[in-house]
Amino acid sequence: MVRLRHPLHSFFFFLVASCSTWGLNSLTRDQTCIPCFERQNERHAAFIPPPDAQHAGPIFRITLPVLHDATARSVPWQNYHLNDWMEEQYRHIPGEYVRLTGYPCSWTFYHHLRAEILQEFTLHAHVREEAQNFLRGLRVNGSRPSTYVGVHVRRGDYVRVMPTVWKGVLADRGYLQQALDWFRARHRSPLFVITSDDMAWCRRNINSSHRDVVFAGSGQQGSDFALLTQCNHTVITVGTFGIWAAYLAGGSTVYLANFTLPGSRFRMIFKPQAAFLPEWVGIAANLGQCPCPQDLVPL
Ligand SMILES: *[C@@H]1O[C@H](CO)[C@@H](O)[C@H](O)[C@H]1NC(C)=O
Ligand SMILES: *[C@@H]1O[C@H](CO)[C@@H](O)[C@H](O)[C@H]1NC(C)=O
Ligand SMILES: *[C@@H]1O[C@H](CO)[C@@H](O)[C@H](O)[C@H]1NC(C)=O
Repeated sequence: MVRLRHPLHSFFFFLVASCSTWGLNSLTRDQTCIPCFERQNERHAAFIPPPDAQHAGPIFRITLPVLHDATARSVPWQNYHLNDWMEEQYRHIPGEYVRLTGYPCSWTFYHHLRAEILQEFTLHAHVREEAQNFLRGLRVNGSRPSTYVGVHVRRGDYVRVMPTVWKGVLADRGYLQQALDWFRARHRSPLFVITSDDMAWCRRNINSSHRDVVFAGSGQQGSDFALLTQCNHTVITVGTFGIWAAYLAGGSTVYLANFTLPGSRFRMIFKPQAAFLPEWVGIAANLGQCPCPQDLVPL
């Protein structure tokens, strides 16, 4: 499946895998399944691997125990691959020591446990305070905005991988304009809080002449993620970072829809209806955009 090359991405993989696994645990009550989460009063013992604890621990008040490498090494694991959507057979995963693999991010695994997930992924007080202080300092038209819209623009390795491997496109200038306009039409003076792994691209491609855009991305995934979760609504592009930020933020979410060509292999591993909540709003990608000259022309 998708290999995570960025060390920090493993943190979000953890978020994804843990939450999904958590959902599975509650569904597989008769199994002895050892994934990532321990839920009290159930037979399943579940743990967080140390690297994930290292990434998530500084941001969230995680209550789950950490499974140490030495212990993990002594366990006769059986790997079990999951697609990124819930399937009936996952309710009955056989084996005593099961390690779930794949890239399970879909809400179809865990949405029935939303309250518990929000609880487990509560920000540390100082992380929350830092994000809130930042938001409190922002102004639109000289006053504090009543609506903050977090925007996550994922680029990085996807700039290469999306067209070459997946025959797809990323969010372009047109998508972001439409997504921001969707909120401008529905809220009085919303403020857009832009985060990205490519802030330079955002500065060139997001029209800030409305004076309702703040380029907030710090280059640190943890604080960017925290900031997004403290906003009222979310605009996302591609990737699980945005999906999770939107899920934890609640509110309205606008996402990039239909971003791969028919026949793309991505369509075999990714089901939009399992990735995006039904109430989220999709705006279709411009599949005719590549090559992407607008990336080169400054606003
Ligand atoms: C700022 O205020 C002016 C005058 O009331 C209004 O026309 C404009 O839309 C406001 N801008 C934003 C970004 O809310
Ligand atoms: C940016 O937005 C302003 C205000 O709506 C508009 O006048 C301008 O043409 C836009 N710029 C670009 C490059 O789209
Ligand atoms: C919107 O977000 C801000 C910042 O987190 C918060 O203070 C405010 O209460 C939120 N508004 C609503 C309606 O939830």
